[in-house]
Amino acid sequence: MEFTAEDIKKALISEVSDIGKEIVILEEVESTNTVANELLKIGYPSGTVVIANKQLKGKGRLGRAWISPADKNIYLSIGIKPNFPPKYATLLTLTSTVACTLALRRFTDIPVTIKWPNDMLINNKKVGGILTEMKTEAERIKSAVVGIGINVNMDETDFPEEIKDIATSLKIHKGKIISRALLIVEVLKEFDKWYQLLEKTKRKEIIDSWIELSGTIGRQVKIVLSERQQLVGIAEAIDEEGRLILKLSDGAYEKISAGDVILLRAN
Ligand code: BTN
Repeated sequence: MEFTAEDIKKALISEVSDIGKEIVILEEVESTNTVANELLKIGYPSGTVVIANKQLKGKGRLGRAWISPADKNIYLSIGIKPNFPPKYATLLTLTSTVACTLALRRFTDIPVTIKWPNDMLINNKKVGGILTEMKTEAERIKSAVVGIGINVNMDETDFPEEIKDIATSLKIHKGKIISRALLIVEVLKEFDKWYQLLEKTKRKEIIDSWIELSGTIGRQVKIVLSERQQLVGIAEAIDEEGRLILKLSDGAYEKISAGDVILLRAN
């Protein structure tokens, strides 16, 4: 790796509260989410960050794999011990997506947009995603891991055939190599800020920002809930818990907390 935990810590000093107090950088892991979860279990503090140069079993949402070659991208997990009940789990993902999208926009000047709940897109192609995993106990979140994957310096030829038409990278858009270390610092600073808002229950502020950055609200969408179950409707809003409110053609409303959104046509 071309940077150390100390480099990142130095850049963060006095800019963050809890995020990045402990930073662990590893060359190769199965999944940074798994490592972050293990570290929390053995007593690492909330805000612990795990970064890897390569993942052997990178995890995506809905049981998918996340392509994680060495030297190219950001694979980063933040382990936290949140103070809110499990019903705000989806909102944690939305909060993290707002933070990452703003960091990406500021750092690259590319108008990255969000597709519900956690996809970061450039011209409708995926440049990043977030996988939140948590352990709950009764009505309490014991611990949560927010896993952030950003395609930074991949070239077109680095993407496997099955995703090359739907995925992209920052380098492809900027035409030059992007510093992973500097981008990580931006992501962690922004995450710290938005996570604090979430802890202070500033949910409206988070959802309003999410809506502003998203290309989803107001669009006709298809929601794939499972292999056999799909819904088509207008994505009307996001509720307090981060669920997508879908207006079906018969006028009824559905609240969706997990699934895949396919944008149908622009209004
Ligand atoms: C998605 O499917 O959109 C979510 C992708 C999340 C990938 C990141 S990479 C770092 C962290 N570790 C993992 O195994 N997954 C997440």
